[in-house]
Amino acid sequence: MPRLDVEKTLEELTLGEKVALTAGIDFWHTAAVHRLNIPSLRMSDGPNGVRGTRFFNGVPAACLPCATALGATWNTDLLHEVGRLMGDESIAKGAHVVLGPTINIQRSPLGGRGFESFSEDGVLSGTLAGYFSKGIQEKGVAATLKHFVCNDQEHERLAVDSIITERALRENYLLPFQLALRICRTACVMTAYNKVNGTHVSENKRIITDILREEWGWDGLVMSDWFGTYSTSDAIAAGLDVEMPGKTRWRGTALAHAVSSNKVPEFVLDERVRNVLNLVNWVDPLGIPENAPEKALNRAQDQALLRRAAAESVVLMKNEENLLPLKKDKSIAVIGPNAKLAAYCGGGSASLDAYYTVTPFDGVSSKSTGDVHFAQGVYSYQDLPLLGPLLKTADGKPGFSFKVYNEHPSEPNRNLVDELHLVSSSGFLMDYVHPKIHSLTYYVDMEGHFTPDADGIYDFGVTVVGTGRLYLDDDLVVDNTQNQRQGSAFFGNATVEERGSKTLQAGHTYKVLFQFGTAPTSDLDTRGIVSFGPGGFRFGASRRISQEDLITEAVALASSTDQVVVFAGLTSEWETEGHDRKHMDLPPGSDELITRVLAANPNAIIVLQSGTPVTMPWAAKAKALVHAWFGGNEAGNGIADILYGDVNPSAKLPLSFPVRLQDNPSFLNFRSERGRVLYGEDIYVGYRYYEKVERPPLFPFGHGLSYTTFSRSELELATVPEKLHYEEAGEPVTVSLSVANTGPVAGAETVQLWVAPPATGVNRPVRELKGFVKVFLDPGEKKRVQIVVEKKLATSWFDEQRGKWASEKGVYEVQVTGTGGEVLTSEFRVERTRYWLGL
Ligand code: BGC
Repeated sequence: MPRLDVEKTLEELTLGEKVALTAGIDFWHTAAVHRLNIPSLRMSDGPNGVRGTRFFNGVPAACLPCATALGATWNTDLLHEVGRLMGDESIAKGAHVVLGPTINIQRSPLGGRGFESFSEDGVLSGTLAGYFSKGIQEKGVAATLKHFVCNDQEHERLAVDSIITERALRENYLLPFQLALRICRTACVMTAYNKVNGTHVSENKRIITDILREEWGWDGLVMSDWFGTYSTSDAIAAGLDVEMPGKTRWRGTALAHAVSSNKVPEFVLDERVRNVLNLVNWVDPLGIPENAPEKALNRAQDQALLRRAAAESVVLMKNEENLLPLKKDKSIAVIGPNAKLAAYCGGGSASLDAYYTVTPFDGVSSKSTGDVHFAQGVYSYQDLPLLGPLLKTADGKPGFSFKVYNEHPSEPNRNLVDELHLVSSSGFLMDYVHPKIHSLTYYVDMEGHFTPDADGIYDFGVTVVGTGRLYLDDDLVVDNTQNQRQGSAFFGNATVEERGSKTLQAGHTYKVLFQFGTAPTSDLDTRGIVSFGPGGFRFGASRRISQEDLITEAVALASSTDQVVVFAGLTSEWETEGHDRKHMDLPPGSDELITRVLAANPNAIIVLQSGTPVTMPWAAKAKALVHAWFGGNEAGNGIADILYGDVNPSAKLPLSFPVRLQDNPSFLNFRSERGRVLYGEDIYVGYRYYEKVERPPLFPFGHGLSYTTFSRSELELATVPEKLHYEEAGEPVTVSLSVANTGPVAGAETVQLWVAPPATGVNRPVRELKGFVKVFLDPGEKKRVQIVVEKKLATSWFDEQRGKWASEKGVYEVQVTGTGGEVLTSEFRVERTRYWLGL
């Protein structure tokens, strides 16, 4: 029995109540109408874990590998499993709706949120997203496909107009949504911030209503991205059910007025409210009470699953002379900026406070039975490392006091509103609430004590969305209140890090006072950027050390040790929501470190972590190279499992890694210029471009090695007679083949199915991925595998003249690939040209 009789409830709701139901009440909750048994629902981010309702000082959560890492597994069963874990995590956080998965497309390696989406390819992305969502929804939790559609860059993401042909929109950007919905009808979809061809998606009727609801026949709830609603009547008329977050800017009295004046007919409002009530019924079996407490699960079986996922995502890019796997009983030198750093997730709304993290150094140390030596080499941070964990409170606890006031520090007799004890000196206050804070403007004094363990010059840094001053023993060391400069932290809202320095003595205790004023105290121009309420702060410090000394020390260690691994890469500072990367390079110093270590020890193994491609000017010199993404809580263990061969690598790149940024097809058109970005590469995204122009990337889409070898043989292809009806081009094309593990260790092979179209006078990619399957095989084992694709999906391109997909008559070549270069081919025929629309 559903909780609500939707039609009856619609009749009983007052206009005011209906209007209230179409907007959030705060950052994470929808409105309730208790008199009619309608509860408030909770939503929570997101793509790689469920953070709960507090960005600031929240309850820790499980952190999955980032989506590009999961994309590299090509494993639908695994995605299904981690989706189920997401469901459990959501229930633990009292959330009815998970704000994920993200399935935008990595047009460029620079996209700040590229790590959040599975792949540059719609088939891989949509299929994995479908299974991930299925896992979430099997637990009774609603999944949300986001951001619908063409939010593929961060630069001016609110304001930018994505100018794109209908064909590219369909074939590349809508495709992952379409395919995901074929596998799992997610209960929710979130609109993108940007415009598509002139109209913001949250008020774009063609996209929300004509395509999503009517053409695809989907009947769930559409919400806006956070502060991504820009109108009252247009958004309601276009089909945007819920404005998020609250308090509403566009609904409330404005919407009530629009309905009273018949600008928005009440039946249209009813359509929006009906979707909200349906969602209430949909999530009701969860039995999550309103404002449920947030709990940490952190179960042993989840840790094991996360470790498996982390290891399965690690791509073995090169392994000359079988340098890998490493030997556990031999000593090892662990070098590099990411060795003792837990780069476990990207930045922005995907980030969360993980239950625990495992660094690569921890992972290696826990396996090695030989000596483990360490050299830092260089640091990969953008802003100075957090100072908070090095501070002590007046009563000797690690961390510092956090005292909140409504009054400016210059005012006498301020009233203390709240006092917290914190350890992290980075805080985003968007969802911090306190009953005595009545406006977005307030002030915080943070105070602790710092006792350096070495003499020297110390640099201090302050990054704020707001204003901040850092004092040491009452001397002003950093003043970030005037002439502020735009930076990348906190969703692109923050200033750059302003720095100051002071000579300190080892063993002496200094009082550190950081005075922070919230966002309205700053006059930084944040046009085109989503501003999230009261803002945030970050302060860090580091003793000044010569990079040359650090590299020299690392090189000396590398030349005196046989087994050497360098861990380098990016972190959530470099890859983050709200800001696109400026270049594709590793942080300063990393390339030099790797080059010099390789010169000293040509057998050094290079392990990179990043969510999206980076340049590797030393790639030809590295004999063994591993790509490890942001691997979630278990990142370090997952990497070590691969390095020592406890897990045989099976991951394949879900993105092309170009040699240079200039090679990527969006190079000329990747940022907002006067409010628009032209999708100039059209349908030639990622491998579709590199293959068409025959410009091999450094590592292609689908690349990944193994510690074993596989063979593929006995390809068979079966089709069924075509139906006459034009709209029903969905007959199965069944591809079967034998896959054998011909090497010494157990392992998994990913079989990829590509279709190359006939020449029909229309410019098309050389071939496109149409299906894949992953199979686990013991040494010597051989299995028969099957991939089934609908004929229409295997063959069609989008014909703009007709406004329909066209499956054209002709002979299509089927190519089957896997680990190694060998390609099996076959073909099938489309007897007559047919046009179709729909899911
Ligand atoms: C992001 C969404 C996210 C929302 C809530 C926005 O900035 O674009 O993906 O779900 O914030 O955190």
